[in-house]
Amino acid sequence: MTQRVLTGITTTGTPHLGNYVGAIRPAIAASREDGVESFFFLADYHALIKCDDPDRIEQSRLQIAATWLAAGLNPERVTFYRQSDIPETTELNWLLTCVTAKGQMNRAHAYKASVDANEAAGEEPDAGVTMGLYCYPILMAADILLFNAHRVPVGRDQVQHIEMARDVAQRFNHTFGRGKELFVLPQAEIEDSVATLPGLDGRKMSKSYDNTVPLFEGGPKGLKDAIARVVTDSRLPGEPKEPEGAHLVTLYDAFADAATRAAFHADLRAGLGWGDAKQRVVQLIEAHVGPMRERYAALMAHPEQIEEVLQVGAAKARAQAAPFLAELRHAVGLRRMLAVPKVAATQIEAAKAAVPQVKQYRESDGQFYFKITAADGTLLLQSQAFADGREAGGWVKRFKTEGSAALAGAPVSLADGVAAADVDVALAALVAAQG
Ligand code: TRP
Repeated sequence: MTQRVLTGITTTGTPHLGNYVGAIRPAIAASREDGVESFFFLADYHALIKCDDPDRIEQSRLQIAATWLAAGLNPERVTFYRQSDIPETTELNWLLTCVTAKGQMNRAHAYKASVDANEAAGEEPDAGVTMGLYCYPILMAADILLFNAHRVPVGRDQVQHIEMARDVAQRFNHTFGRGKELFVLPQAEIEDSVATLPGLDGRKMSKSYDNTVPLFEGGPKGLKDAIARVVTDSRLPGEPKEPEGAHLVTLYDAFADAATRAAFHADLRAGLGWGDAKQRVVQLIEAHVGPMRERYAALMAHPEQIEEVLQVGAAKARAQAAPFLAELRHAVGLRRMLAVPKVAATQIEAAKAAVPQVKQYRESDGQFYFKITAADGTLLLQSQAFADGREAGGWVKRFKTEGSAALAGAPVSLADGVAAADVDVALAALVAAQG
């Protein structure tokens, strides 16, 4: 079975070399594996929790999208979208909010950290805490559950959030699933093999330590200047140097293959000077990053191209999210007000012996369709064409769970000469047959 892998990137900062090595590069590599369906999105609603500077939000969304595309993300293969382009996210957010225990949110690390900081500073515990921050984990659960992701690659600091998403999913399934697992229970995935890149001072590279090496900003000179500031020991050229544990070497190794690494280590042990070593680090990283920087600049010069990619991604994402949300709304009781035809139990029993067939198929026009036929082969319902097979799948699922109630607004037509009442009975039998 294909595994769905989903992750979000909060759009507040500008990606640096540590983000590239620690998150972007491994995620893109994983998206190329067989049997994986990847969903990567810009978590711009989450960004609003941390940042109230509209220009910075705008700029960061653009930079992050351009970075991922320049780094080789293939939007044909990955569903790449903005969280804020998927209104189903906020709708689901509310459905989940209604089954989330307040006490659980009290225990969320990010919220607790704010409370602790306030108490240490002698402030009110909730000073400066918005409801956005408080409910952050619920929005994150909505991101994940909306696409029924199996695996969620994240940093260690996010593991608790994934556990909360599992909890909420379980509660929702239990309350509204009527025995059916509406949501997949997601699993956090922490890549231990992926390097955490040290920053200029040797601590983890992070904007909050102000020790980052820029990925694209500042061009080749920006990279060179940053590497020049990497802290080394004071051994002189000609003195042997220990490569293990030297931050400069860790930076080099993140971009080198095994043979190149070994040669660099040997040269340091043989007395290569730190100044020359830094030049080699710059050359190696520049060879890797330079071509990406050019693609990045081309994209940044044409934001409308990025917009177009994200719009296509949003349409792809919504083709799945919309029918799923319809199913969830139905599950909680937000249903259309319809005179749902009453089909007598005896009629269903009789029809059960002859359950209608649902067929999903693709035509030579490349479009997706489904049709429902009576057990004897008579066509009952024929769908319109769908560009995305998953959209057709979403409707099929609705017919199987809702029966005739799904007919309202469904992109289907009744076959010629078929009585609506017969279709009602057949669909009721279809629902009953799902057990
Ligand atoms: N909170 C995550 C972070 O700061 C970003 C994020 C938002 C996310 N929604 C998500 C990550 C869903 C994974 C899945 O890193």
